[in-house]
Amino acid sequence: MGRLRAGLCWLENCMFWMNECVDLIPFLGGVMTSGQMTCVPRKSLNSCTDLFAIEKEKDKTNPWKRMKAMKHIIVTGAANGLGRYLATDLLTRGYRVTFADADRAALQKLPSLIPDTKNAHFQYCDISSEDSVKKLFEDAISADPEGGLWGLVNNAGIAAAFLDPSNPAATMDELPSSAFMSYVNTNLVGTYMCSRYAVPYLRKSEGCVVNIASTRAWMSEPNCEGYAASKGGVVALTHAMAVSLGPNVRVNSVSPGWIDVRHLQTDTKGEEQEELRKEDHEQHPAGRVGMPEDLARVVRMLVEDVGGFITGQDFVVDGGMTKKMIYKE
Ligand SMILES: NC(=O)c1ccc[n+]([C@@H]2O[C@H](COP(=O)([O-])OP(=O)(O)OC[C@H]3O[C@@H](n4cnc5c(N)ncnc54)[C@H](O)[C@@H]3O)[C@@H](O)[C@H]2O)c1
Repeated sequence: MGRLRAGLCWLENCMFWMNECVDLIPFLGGVMTSGQMTCVPRKSLNSCTDLFAIEKEKDKTNPWKRMKAMKHIIVTGAANGLGRYLATDLLTRGYRVTFADADRAALQKLPSLIPDTKNAHFQYCDISSEDSVKKLFEDAISADPEGGLWGLVNNAGIAAAFLDPSNPAATMDELPSSAFMSYVNTNLVGTYMCSRYAVPYLRKSEGCVVNIASTRAWMSEPNCEGYAASKGGVVALTHAMAVSLGPNVRVNSVSPGWIDVRHLQTDTKGEEQEELRKEDHEQHPAGRVGMPEDLARVVRMLVEDVGGFITGQDFVVDGGMTKKMIYKE
C-alpha cells in the first residue's frame, strides 16, 4: 500500500512538472523576457498532491474554469496593432472576445479581417470617458450568452511616446500641461476605469486582468514624460489591484519593448512599409525586433489559469533591451 501511494505521488509529480513545462514553453521559445519572470516556489507546498486538490475543488465550483468556450474576454484597443493581434489570437483559441476601440472606422472594417466572428463582439468605447466605459461593460456583458466575464486585457492607449508626437524635440516647458494629461487620462485613468467596471464580474468568475504597460515605465528617452508616467502608473496600478482583489482576481502587466505592429493598422490600405534596418534588429540582445506573437504568448499564459499563483507581476518582453548597458565607448 505504501509503495502504491509513493508510486501515485511520483506519477502526480511527473504530471505536475510536465504541466509546468508546457506553461513555460512560451518563455523558452521566444527568449524574449528580460529577467523579470516570476518563480513559483512549488516546493513549499505541504505535499505534492495539495495543488491538485485545490485546483480540482476550484474547478468543480467554478463553471468558468471548466469550459474555455464559456470564457469571455474584453480586449481594449482591439481595432488596430497589438490589441487586434491579441484579441484575434484569443478568439481563435476558443475564447469569446469583445473587441473594444475608439476608432470607429477600424472597428467597422474589423469583422472582414477576422476568420470567424461567431464568438466576437465589436464595441465602440473611448476608455478616457467613464460613460463610454460603463456602456462598454453593460453592452458587452449583455451580449455574452453567459452574461459574465473571465478576463480584461487593458491594451488601449496613446502609443506614440513623445509629449508632442509631431515634434519629438518639444520639451515639457514648451508645451501645455494638457499634453501630459491626455496620456495620463487615457493610458492610466482609462485602464483604471475599465478595471473598475470589470471587477464585479471578475470576482464572480475568479478571472484576471492583464494590463499592457511598456518598458518606458522603466526607462526613458527625452520628452516622453506623459507616456512614461502613465505606463509607470499602470505597473503600480497592477500590483495595487492584485493586492486588493486577491485571492479571487489575478492582475498582472506586460511591458513590451519595440514590437512591430505596422502591418496591423486596420485602416492602412496595403501601404508600402519600409523594411526594418539590420541595426534595428541587431541592437536587441535577442537579435530581432519584437513581433506581436511574442506578447501574445505571455498574455495567453497569464489569461490561462496556471495554478492561480502569478499575480501583481510585470513581465518585460523586450528582447533584453532593458538589460543592456548603452554607455558610449
Ligand atoms: N507596439 C509597441 O512597440 C509597444 C511598445 C510598448 C507598449 N505598447 C503598448 O501596447 C498598446 C498597443 O499599442 P500599439 O503599438 O498596438 O498601438 P496602436 O496605436 O496601433 O493601437 C492602439 C489602439 O488603441 C486605441 N485607442 C487609443 N486611444 C483609445 C481610447 N481613448 N479608447 C479606446 N481605444 C483607444 C486605438 O484606436 C488603437 O486601435 C498600447 O497601450 C501601447 O502603449 C506598444
